[in-house]
Amino acid sequence: MDFEAIRSADAQYVAQTYTRFPVALVRGQGARCWDAQGKEFVDLTSGIGVNALGFADLDWANAVYSQLTTLQHTSNLFYTQPATELAQVLCERAGLRRAFFANSGAEANEGAIKAARKYGHARRGSDCHRIVTLRQSFHGRTITTLTATGQPRFHTQFNPFTPGFAYAPPDDLAATLALLDADTCAVMVELVQGEGGVRPLDIAYAQGLAVACAQRDILLIVDEVQTGVGRTGALFAFQRYGITPDIVTCAKGLGAGLPIGAVLFGQKTQDVLAAGEHAATFGGNPACCAGALAVLARMDAAFLNQVEAKGGLIRQRLQGMPHVSGIDGMGLMLGVTLDGIAPADAVRAGIAQGVLTLTAGDRLRLLPPLIISPQDIDEAMTRLHTALKEVTPA
Ligand SMILES: Cc1ncc(COP(=O)(O)O)c(C=O)c1O
Repeated sequence: MDFEAIRSADAQYVAQTYTRFPVALVRGQGARCWDAQGKEFVDLTSGIGVNALGFADLDWANAVYSQLTTLQHTSNLFYTQPATELAQVLCERAGLRRAFFANSGAEANEGAIKAARKYGHARRGSDCHRIVTLRQSFHGRTITTLTATGQPRFHTQFNPFTPGFAYAPPDDLAATLALLDADTCAVMVELVQGEGGVRPLDIAYAQGLAVACAQRDILLIVDEVQTGVGRTGALFAFQRYGITPDIVTCAKGLGAGLPIGAVLFGQKTQDVLAAGEHAATFGGNPACCAGALAVLARMDAAFLNQVEAKGGLIRQRLQGMPHVSGIDGMGLMLGVTLDGIAPADAVRAGIAQGVLTLTAGDRLRLLPPLIISPQDIDEAMTRLHTALKEVTPA
């Protein structure tokens, strides 16, 4: 199928829930990919933070293939080694106790919310179900995770939404603490707000919040769906913040291209969900878990230090580019403030020049594959510079 054939079949047969750019990607290798017309791009998107090891990584693909041709799936009525081993590696490296496997970030957050509510009910009765999240947050597209998302634009059209959420202003500890009453079972935060514009929380705020939650026996849930699995230069962002959450969720980079989500439970929460209280048919799929183990095997200290160093390289190159007035983020999760031009116009100009980028709120967002080479960074930055030069303020 050529590009026009793909586009017109999509228009006819696919639910039109995405505003797509006029590009059909057909193959990739590392941090480069090609469209249906053979045009090459340097990818600074990783499929929105998923392709941590880039396109077509052989360690990952071989691990998945070997598992697919051995035992591709069975139900959770039986044990499998890949899921058990993945749970052990995740728990040991996160310093947490148990894992539940889901299929996506939203689904992992649903699991975390269920566990938090059950914990609250057991501690302070059934009214203890309130969860405080942050303004500008993003936690997913199910009805409950949309409600958890602290952006009013997501709270329309699909009523009734799940009751029991309140929204605090990020980095305002006093205002956040004022919302923590006896009916609050948990606080849920992204340490770097991704969809909200790549905004890292202040360390003192995050640490203060962790202490206050512990004092009140309120659970701290950290949504690491976007920040987790190496993205910020640590395996999990909470490790950079020096806090220990009660529940951590992750997805995206863990799958490296296949759907998997995980809820990691700490000491207080490890036994909250009991047999029959939570499940997922595909959860813990052996092929997805085998791939995730290959991802984690690559993420040693040297790999994670490289993530930080490459983020620094990109920041250096961004400084002084046309329209760039600020750079925020952590590791290889970067948000760029652009003066006078719309981020989507910058993305379009990047596509014309052969570099793929993202938007997040009012910013341009860069989520390169974590394996991107300095040469590919150099090429991407040269192309982005040319692209930004060509965008004129509206
Ligand atoms: C922080 C965060 N939480 C949850 C989600 C939802 O993940 P998924 O699309 O896999 O359901 C996202 C997706 O962008 C996210 O960034």
